Amino acid sequence: MKRYLQPCYLALAILGMSSLPSLAENDHYCRAPASTKDHAAPMNYPDQFAWHLFLEVNQKAKKEYATLNGKKVELNNAVWETWIDDSDNFPQHPTPANPPVWPTKADGHNLAYTSFSHQTYSNDKTSSEPDCNPDDLKNGGTCEVVYRNKATFEYIKNNNLWYQEGIADYVKTGKEIVFPIDSIEVKGNWKLIKENEKKDYHWNYTTKGQLIGLVAMHISSKVIPNWLWATFEHVDNPGRCDLLGCFDCYGVTNPVTQPNAKTFGSVYPEEPLSSALLKQYDKSGFNGTWLKEWKNYRLKGSMINFTDSYGNASLLGNSVTESGFVATSSCMGCHSRAAVTSAGQKAFPFFGELPSTAAIGNIPAEYGLQFLTANGAPNPADFYHRAGNLNNNNPYGTLQFLQTDFVWAIPMRAKSINQTTP
Ligand code: HEC
Repeated sequence: MKRYLQPCYLALAILGMSSLPSLAENDHYCRAPASTKDHAAPMNYPDQFAWHLFLEVNQKAKKEYATLNGKKVELNNAVWETWIDDSDNFPQHPTPANPPVWPTKADGHNLAYTSFSHQTYSNDKTSSEPDCNPDDLKNGGTCEVVYRNKATFEYIKNNNLWYQEGIADYVKTGKEIVFPIDSIEVKGNWKLIKENEKKDYHWNYTTKGQLIGLVAMHISSKVIPNWLWATFEHVDNPGRCDLLGCFDCYGVTNPVTQPNAKTFGSVYPEEPLSSALLKQYDKSGFNGTWLKEWKNYRLKGSMINFTDSYGNASLLGNSVTESGFVATSSCMGCHSRAAVTSAGQKAFPFFGELPSTAAIGNIPAEYGLQFLTANGAPNPADFYHRAGNLNNNNPYGTLQFLQTDFVWAIPMRAKSINQTTP
């Protein structure tokens, strides 16, 4: 998605220069229908493709029961919830002879990371604590979980990218990390809900048997070389379109919701779903309560490039998953920094490299600091040592950090086989 251009034109007008009329977002973003057959759909119609992915991964999975915390429950899995999650894919104590295996039975969500929501951001004291503490949920917070499909999992497993020493060996081969074209990853954020709210959410259970409702969902697909990135929100999320706006050329009848049209943190009106999307829901077999659940979600935007053609950073962030750094959030910009050292360890932190700023714009002070995060095109100098190496065989310099093809879990999650800590 592109940034919205009006402020630049305002600045030109102030300088007394002649200015172009301001461009509406959809003039350069929502494209007219293609008259050719092979029209590179994910590039030209990324929002439509995002919905295609949404309908594919949210197919109802087979009925499964689990005994969680001594209580037998019927799970409510979509297909992606039956894939492998980060905790199974990246064992805490990896043994190379005993690689992770594809799960055959679902058992509730093992929520891994605390994330925030507008309601709780200011009060949350656990921001430095990665694990999801059940109390975070009890206090109205949200927690998250990552799943990846079999193609993505097998690439990680077969190339030994699930533990640090395996990654280090891979770096020695001099090959790039390039996931197969059918790779898909999903990150979901959840909050506790009550039994009578099941009808309004895609719901499920944690491994501890807590009833949870889905508030945010990221999908990335390797259908294009730098992945296609999309993020969906529950329609009632407070501040859903704050700071960056909401853009969807396919799924709703009004493609553009301007940012900050409302008081920070308020609930945005429910955009009516387009007839094209409703038809696709029907064609994809969604009906009854399953259809009702999923119709509560909206695409906030999709992303296929680091920048627009002027070089302005493309930005996209979810009000829950990226809470606290939505203003500068770029899925691609931040994920391009998923990289490893020759020892197979994390090359960059994902926070803290850039200063945080006092609450900016119209964000009320009680929401605290906003983190600034990497966006725009990656800087090769962050990955290569250049001095003295600009010879013909090595025009970019010497590679210091190998990108992990945008997959943050590899540097973040892979453990050493020799770790001494419990
Ligand atoms: C400031 C950095 C940052 C931004 C911005 C960001 N992410 Fe991530 N993302 C991460 C980190 C770190 C992880 C791994 C930790 C985790 O599982 O939460 C991750 C994990 C993921 C995963 C699971 C696969 C993986 O890479 O391990 C997906 C899918 C994902 N993000 C999608 C998105 C989308 C879509 C956006 C934009 C709307 C986005 N991310 C924005 C840092 C970021």
